[in-house]
Amino acid sequence: MNAKCINMAALVVMALSCLMLGACAGPAPGESFPEYAASPERVIASAHATETAHALGRGINLGNVFESPLGNGDWGVPMRAEYVNKISAAGFTTVRIPVRWSNHATTDTAATIDEAFARRIDETVDAFLARGMFVVLNMHHYRQLSGDQLDPGEARVDNAVLQLRFYKLWQQIAARYKDRSSHLLFELYNEPHGSLDRDWNDMASRALRIVRQSNPQRIVIIGPGRWNGADALAQLRLPPDPNLIVTIHDYDPMDFTHQGAEWSKPVRPTGVSCCSDEQRARIVRGLGTAQTWSKLNGYPVWLGEFGAYSKAPMESRAVYTRAVRDEAERRGISWAYWEFGAGFGAYDPRADRWRPELLEALLGK
Ligand code: BGC
Repeated sequence: MNAKCINMAALVVMALSCLMLGACAGPAPGESFPEYAASPERVIASAHATETAHALGRGINLGNVFESPLGNGDWGVPMRAEYVNKISAAGFTTVRIPVRWSNHATTDTAATIDEAFARRIDETVDAFLARGMFVVLNMHHYRQLSGDQLDPGEARVDNAVLQLRFYKLWQQIAARYKDRSSHLLFELYNEPHGSLDRDWNDMASRALRIVRQSNPQRIVIIGPGRWNGADALAQLRLPPDPNLIVTIHDYDPMDFTHQGAEWSKPVRPTGVSCCSDEQRARIVRGLGTAQTWSKLNGYPVWLGEFGAYSKAPMESRAVYTRAVRDEAERRGISWAYWEFGAGFGAYDPRADRWRPELLEALLGK
């Protein structure tokens, strides 16, 4: 055998052992991630998707817990087992769990997820599922994917493997949770923006195809570009799959909800109250756009994030929160508040109690 034949034989052996043993060190030679197959007919949401969207009801984001760079309390909110009880006992029916998978995986194409980290996510997911709640498990803050600056503690990866890792991560997440109940939903990516505004439709289609290999029926949530803004729904091209829910985020009016928010530059002045008629009109605008889009396209919409930062006056935060909740519910849109115990927190982890104004605005009569 000449050297070329030996190389070929080695490649064949590698590919075979990879397929048979599932021991691939990266995408198998020639592994590709095609788009979701086209459909000759118009596809709309299944009854299962529509009913699930409705059943999501009132939810809360477990924010700043697992989507911080290290996922261990480095953004001030370490996971505590008792939070599961608190959230479920308060009356929330859904929890959204944002996870920065990309920084807990090898930096090569294989993006092998760190088992110890994944087990912590399993525990949290399973604890909420055991309470009968819906769990939306997402991928959050793979910063480099949108061309953002990295956070301190976040590893840079080779640009050549950036998008491949996204697919490999979903391949692993989907396989890991394939046997969980239908109360577990996947959300492909939080707030695609920047360079993803160009690539998102294509990437979502490829990622969904991968998820469907192990989870043929599970509800998957996909949101539009431009930070999941309702205005970007017009550019969203959904793969023709009936088991989808579409998510939007609504932080309008930003000068109220993000006043004093240090991460949003330039930092907005504080002292803004809510809600004038003009501000209420801004709150309703995105929801109205989403409702119209939903009717036209036959997919239910879920409001996956809204909220006002702690630098806003508490009285106004409560008025704003109640206004968004009421307007969403009036349109039959389920929602999840951003977030549990950090800067927007409805819960105060230091005092170990809910902030009564916010809890009342979210779940009161
Ligand atoms: C981001 C958070 C941010 C929040 C409000 C979320 O989608 O992931 O980091 O605090 O939006 O701006």
